[in-house]
Amino acid sequence: MKFTKPVLLLLSLLPVISSTNTFAQSACKPAALKCEYLVTPLGIDAPHPRLTWLLADLRQGALQKAYQVYVGTDSAEVSRGKGDAWETDKVSSAAGLVAYNGKTLNAFTKYYWRVDVWDKEDVRSSSAVTSFETGMGTMRNWQGTWITDEHDMKTKPAPYFRKVFEAGKKIKSARAYIAVAGLYELSINGQKIGNHRLDPMYTRFDRRNLYVTYDVTAQLQSGKNAIGVLLGNGWYNHQSTAVWDFDKAPWRNRPTFCLDLRITYEDGSVETVQSDRSWKSSLSPVIFNSIYTAEHYDARLEQDGWNTVNFDDAKWKGVIIRSSPSNNIVSQSMQPVRNVLEIPATTFVKFNDTAYHYNLGRNISGVSKITVKGEAGTVIRLRHAERLYDNGRVDLSNIDQHYRPVGTEDPYQTDIFILSGKGEETFMPKFNYKGFQYVEVKASKPIKLAKQNLVGYFMHSDVEPIGNISTSNPVVNKIWSATNASYLSNLFGYPTDCPQREKNGWTGDAQIAIETGLYSFDGITIYEKWLADHRDEQQPNGVLPSIIPTNGWGYEWGNGPDWTSTIAVIPWNIYLFYGDSKILSDNYDNIKRYVDHIDEQYPTGLTTWGLGDWVPVKSKSPVELTSSAYYFADATILSKTAAILGKTADAEKYEKLAQKIKNAVNAKYLNPTTNLYGAGTQTELSVPLYWGLVPADVKSQVAANLAKRVEFDKFHLDVGLLGTKAILNALGQNGYTDVAYKVASQEDFPSWGWWIVNGATTLYENWNIKSKYDISLNHIMFGEIGAWLYKGIGGIFPDETQPGFKNVLLKPHFVPNLQNYESSHTGPYGKITSSWRRKGKGVSYTAVVPANSTATIYFPVTAGQQVYLSNKVVSTTDFAVDTKLYKVEAGTYTFEIK
Ligand code: BGC
Repeated sequence: MKFTKPVLLLLSLLPVISSTNTFAQSACKPAALKCEYLVTPLGIDAPHPRLTWLLADLRQGALQKAYQVYVGTDSAEVSRGKGDAWETDKVSSAAGLVAYNGKTLNAFTKYYWRVDVWDKEDVRSSSAVTSFETGMGTMRNWQGTWITDEHDMKTKPAPYFRKVFEAGKKIKSARAYIAVAGLYELSINGQKIGNHRLDPMYTRFDRRNLYVTYDVTAQLQSGKNAIGVLLGNGWYNHQSTAVWDFDKAPWRNRPTFCLDLRITYEDGSVETVQSDRSWKSSLSPVIFNSIYTAEHYDARLEQDGWNTVNFDDAKWKGVIIRSSPSNNIVSQSMQPVRNVLEIPATTFVKFNDTAYHYNLGRNISGVSKITVKGEAGTVIRLRHAERLYDNGRVDLSNIDQHYRPVGTEDPYQTDIFILSGKGEETFMPKFNYKGFQYVEVKASKPIKLAKQNLVGYFMHSDVEPIGNISTSNPVVNKIWSATNASYLSNLFGYPTDCPQREKNGWTGDAQIAIETGLYSFDGITIYEKWLADHRDEQQPNGVLPSIIPTNGWGYEWGNGPDWTSTIAVIPWNIYLFYGDSKILSDNYDNIKRYVDHIDEQYPTGLTTWGLGDWVPVKSKSPVELTSSAYYFADATILSKTAAILGKTADAEKYEKLAQKIKNAVNAKYLNPTTNLYGAGTQTELSVPLYWGLVPADVKSQVAANLAKRVEFDKFHLDVGLLGTKAILNALGQNGYTDVAYKVASQEDFPSWGWWIVNGATTLYENWNIKSKYDISLNHIMFGEIGAWLYKGIGGIFPDETQPGFKNVLLKPHFVPNLQNYESSHTGPYGKITSSWRRKGKGVSYTAVVPANSTATIYFPVTAGQQVYLSNKVVSTTDFAVDTKLYKVEAGTYTFEIK
């Protein structure tokens, strides 16, 4: 930072001139209570679940002086301020995150909790009472056994299971716990339970299985009840064949499940209905399902009422008992995948009586749903694609490249729906999703379709949107939306590279996108789960595969530190954004093993292990430089993590290692005469700058060289995946935000805007739209721009010394060519806003700092300019440099810079 002398302003003495909350006097209230980052979750297995809250308090300088937490099994008692499970003292602390530390939690128990806070005036206020409910807690609490039908893994139709039981007494409450290897839909008395899709989320099935908990009280009735389960293959029984050999996965088998339906009666007694030998099974109308390709459904095979009590199952078969797929069955404690958005077709074409075409107007991950009437046995094929041939027919050639079909029965991204002929029928796949914008419908016999007969559903992990960017440049706004669309299209309980061609958990793509995700979405639960997937996959020697989860593919290719640094980079960013160090301690040994492994293999500090700057515009950069930069980042994160966790010796050891790597990189790649790295490409200069490898005394010269290089490249990108992560930040953080914005807002090749002006609604895999290879139209790997729009222009950054936005760093840049700009991000303390608009020759800048947090604002003030608040100059201190720093407490501030 370039400031010489920080000025601390006591802004509480000054009137606040915000229009939104002028002199707001509303009382303080603890709000947004969550347990394990979920609202009133069920099935919590964590022995020390984390409880979080924030302050709803709009007053200037709002803060929390102390808190007291009450946790108990009786909600009335908790609301009276008594917690039979845990009652903290009044703790003098501003924390909005505590880990439960009371009596050992019992399984299957609802715990109510509330928090009281003391505000800045020492006035106490209580939150509403909320709850979390524990799940199995330990595996020994399972009553059910794993069952499946009598078929083997090659059998195509999906199995139905049913069981009728008698609820003998008046039901007070009931929970279903279902663990599945594969996918499932659960129903009770004919009603589908819950609105999750593709549950349970993908894990390495032979190491860890997830179970899902539902409150099914409302679906049960006194007397007879029927439970129905339909199992899908998912990644567990991959029948399609592609280059990654998921059909040969070591865990592969016919899907199986274990279920406990735990009923609590009014009289306090408990009965558990479980999966066991008494269940019955049958094949279902889902005649084929592949997570990778599509689903086939023959409506003629429907068995009406199969999941209701009075259905005649005399012709159904029994079940067989199976071994548990792993010995680690844990709760799925995360936001589920859902059909988040229904998308009607924007255009519709009828080619002829048997061929139609729908365009959703945007590229999505998800499914289509068709409603149609036709003759029994009519075969309808729905081909899903991202692009069209010139003749208007769908073109799948950019996404089916890695597919290795055996025969023609499993066409790519093509659902097959066979009509029963019984009037209007609807089909939407249950166990597959695709990446697409267009759907071509072809029928074996004439059918009549209209525009509204088909809709799309955008599916993804249903993480809450918590960020916003809006600027006076519509193309930039569209780039931001497209980035979010690609981020979400690649979030299915683990981050993926693309929703069509692969659906693989490519580590490199995910580490690039972590900040893009975290600025805009509340994704901690997904990443905590994915890091557990990392721990499942890590070899004893520390090596990780390039895709996670994996069947074993990826330990030999693509798994250098430029990709698998996810093990360090993701926990670190979660820590910065959430201020929660649990993910650091959970993964500490794993990061260490990983770093140690590289150190053992590459004792010089330089590593050539990696893929390098993937899919570049034109220039290639040395793999050794980029991989060593990631290795340096990992060692640095490890050292900082060790310090945070109080492991002083490790902190020193890995700091030394980081220094060794830095020295080795600079000795080999930094030319001390020219201050260029390597040949001075954009990636070669920006990666060392961004990851902190450049010696302090030459940083400004290297940055100047980067700016010159970008100018030489006509202010256009010349980077691949790794360079894209670094370039805008490296420019912006070193005084060249205007240059970065020029690059970011270009609208001709190669740029993000080039995609947008050519109709993109998602980000592409290749800067070259006409490329024959690597041209999925929905990739997140060039998505850093989504994060940069918060960082580079709004300047919203977490403060490493007070993570979780306890202190917010605000470093706005009033870039030329933008009239106005707004950004907001809701962190653990609430909504942070950084926005500005031009006003005459000056700029009006508004910062909103949430209750119980502070901010440090760095103004990009040029010579002769002053900063005003309420028409008063807030500082007349003369700085030798152009950046001024102000410290503010919670509140809304509108500054005039002129
Ligand atoms: C994926 C990428 C991934 C890369 C690794 C591709 O096939 O789609 O996004 O990172 O392979 O080389």
